[in-house]
Amino acid sequence: MNNNDIKTSENKKILITGGAGFIGSHVVRRFVRSYPEYQIFNLDALTYAGNLENLKDIENETNYSFVKGDITDAPFIDQLFENHKFDGVIHLAAESHVDRSIHDPLAFAKTNILGTMILLNAFKTTWEGNWKGKRFYHISTDEVYGSLGDTGFFTEETAYDPNSPYSASKASSDHFVRAYGETYGMPYVITNCSNNYGPNHFPEKLIPLFINNIINNKPLPVYGDGNYTRDWLYVIDHAIAIDLVFHKGKNQETYNIGGFNEWKNIDLVKLLCRLMDNKLGREEGTSERLITYVKDRPGHDLRYAIDATKINKELGWKPSVTFEEGLDKTIDWYLDNEEWLQGVTSGAYQQYYKKQYKD
Ligand code: NAD
Ligand code: TYD
Repeated sequence: MNNNDIKTSENKKILITGGAGFIGSHVVRRFVRSYPEYQIFNLDALTYAGNLENLKDIENETNYSFVKGDITDAPFIDQLFENHKFDGVIHLAAESHVDRSIHDPLAFAKTNILGTMILLNAFKTTWEGNWKGKRFYHISTDEVYGSLGDTGFFTEETAYDPNSPYSASKASSDHFVRAYGETYGMPYVITNCSNNYGPNHFPEKLIPLFINNIINNKPLPVYGDGNYTRDWLYVIDHAIAIDLVFHKGKNQETYNIGGFNEWKNIDLVKLLCRLMDNKLGREEGTSERLITYVKDRPGHDLRYAIDATKINKELGWKPSVTFEEGLDKTIDWYLDNEEWLQGVTSGAYQQYYKKQYKD
């Protein structure tokens, strides 16, 4: 069971959930373009975070289909699996924003825990006893490991210790995936990745929010003293890692994915300000003056840092771009895609912004 048995040369039906979101859209694009022999199904409920504009360039490809649907709707999911008998599932659909999980933890339990279980059940019903060549790939986060002090790294052996409703819901879903592997012999892989950044990122997370605010000369709300540390990875490098783990990872294993790229929030924000001043032809220091220290996030994890040695040694993966290159590409994408940004920041976004930042 531990050997990988996913062959790229075969016709396969692959279900990617959450493919209209930030990371999912890059994964869908990569799979549709790289594996013409696969049929790729993108299942997404199109919540506020899902946007089919992210996939305009591949929407007419013959090996791609979009299915609008909710992973928490069990009869619908069961029927979808019965109709298509997916050989592989790459599961990204989730509620993904820590601040929203503080406002509405139940929504996170529903989608992230119950939704994952409904997919697991449908996959089990379809293939139990006939698992060869099948795989359930669950995409998770480094936040399940909790918070680090000033030193040390999260490895695959680090005990789970989640602190936010978001990370607790992801930790729970990871445990269920593992339990289906142990109990029913379901072949699975799990990856736990650090903070992503890049094109198509909804502007509620740090980097795209601050890029949007700098463009619009709005305050940059830094939580607490800004001395929180995150390990940043360019989203396309995450999509490359997902491709590699799906095809070459070992069943029943977890892989940590990280950027080898730790930044204190305040240092990152200052770098972003300098780069944006330069791109926008503004005098140096203009954007830094927008930095505003605001009330801290409750239960704010001090530091995340991934030890990605396992995926590097076993599968040869490492990030392909430096942080400077990745940030440069990201800023250019936002400046070139003003319409996308305006589209996602109208309507409901304004209500969320008022609630979160009392703006
Ligand atoms: P996102 O919020 O941008 O996208 C989530 C997608 O899931 C959206 O398209 C949304 O419409 C869809 N979705 C939400 N609820 C659904 C439901 N009930 N049924 C069907 N679809 C639903 O998230 P993201 O940043 O792209 O993250 C994708 C996955 O990667 C998540 O599982 C997240 O936990 C994980 N992850 C994210 C990061 C990060 O830095 N963004 C890092 C590590 C892991
Ligand atoms: P975020 O992008 O929400 O990712 P996560 O909480 O999953 O790591 O936040 C990254 C860091 O930036 C985190 O330490 C919280 C901080 N932050 C701010 O200081 N201000 C903000 O407005 C946001 C959204 C985040």
